[in-house]
Amino acid sequence: MSLPFVRHRRLRQSAAIRGMVRETVLTADDFIQPIYVTFGTGVKSEISSMPGVYRFSLDMLEEELKEIVDLGIPAVLLFGIPETKDSVGTSAFIENGIVQEATRLIKKLYPHLLVVADTCLCEYTDHGHCGMVHTYELDGQVCGDVLNDESLELHVKTAVSQAKAGADIIAPSNMMDGFVQAIRAGLDENGFQHIPIMSYSVKYSSAFYGPFRDAADSAPQFGDRKSYQMDPANSREAIRESESDVAEGADMLMVKPALSYLDIMRQVKDRFDLPLVAYNVSGEYAMVKAAAQNGWVDEKAITLEILLSMKRAGADIIITYSAKDAARWLAEK
Ligand code: PBG
Repeated sequence: MSLPFVRHRRLRQSAAIRGMVRETVLTADDFIQPIYVTFGTGVKSEISSMPGVYRFSLDMLEEELKEIVDLGIPAVLLFGIPETKDSVGTSAFIENGIVQEATRLIKKLYPHLLVVADTCLCEYTDHGHCGMVHTYELDGQVCGDVLNDESLELHVKTAVSQAKAGADIIAPSNMMDGFVQAIRAGLDENGFQHIPIMSYSVKYSSAFYGPFRDAADSAPQFGDRKSYQMDPANSREAIRESESDVAEGADMLMVKPALSYLDIMRQVKDRFDLPLVAYNVSGEYAMVKAAAQNGWVDEKAITLEILLSMKRAGADIIITYSAKDAARWLAEK
């Protein structure tokens, strides 16, 4: 028997040598922490399907922000729970909307913490869709079509109002056609040429958003999002979506969800030179939490491995509900 002369284990024999040859490193400045904000006072209510994630009223936000800043996390992503909803999502674009108020507060308290505003209507519409709908009855059931071009104007208004409130980055997640182009034009016309667009370019119609819809109370009241979000079966379509976003002026691309779509992330990364964002969504977080609470997995090890795999697949930035935990664990090492 001849002994192997190629030995991969030579570079694995100590922590020091493994450290030197490590290809991917996770750091706190890769992360964006999502935050749910709501009106009222004294509210810090845990989302039942997302242990450790809360809805905050604005007066309760400061402590949370301090923790985020102290951990070295550079950005937060805001989701709002409005007081009232209507068919066009007016609360998304009013001057005193919840996200606008939260943005002003954050920029006052922590001017260097980046505020990323999720630009969508589903949390603000009474029907829970991401745009304006035309409803009709079919066989006694309410149905609806989400109107593309009519919705764009509402998304532009929302983005502009968020930028006016001080948002540093606009992140449109509505998946209408032409939304990047429309929002870019709207921002530019209003003097916000310098505000980048982080486009949710490749957003799948996914069961992994379940806990988010509890948290933001944004489940569609009829139908589903399959006519605007992507079919999980498709990957070439992800390239077409990214291509059009690049052409329309997106500054960053995103793949969402992340864990089941690492192949897509790698393909997008290889084809496009823009920074790539992974969204480690609510359902991915909930699965890990549930298993960890049962003692079935090692929460710290598995969370860091999941986040590392996203970076290895090509993500430059990771939006994750685990940002604070992960930053804390990385600092311990
Ligand atoms: C808004 C939006 C959603 C998420 C982010 N922005 C929900 C959806 O499309 O239904 C999901 C985020 C998560 O699951 O963590 N359209």
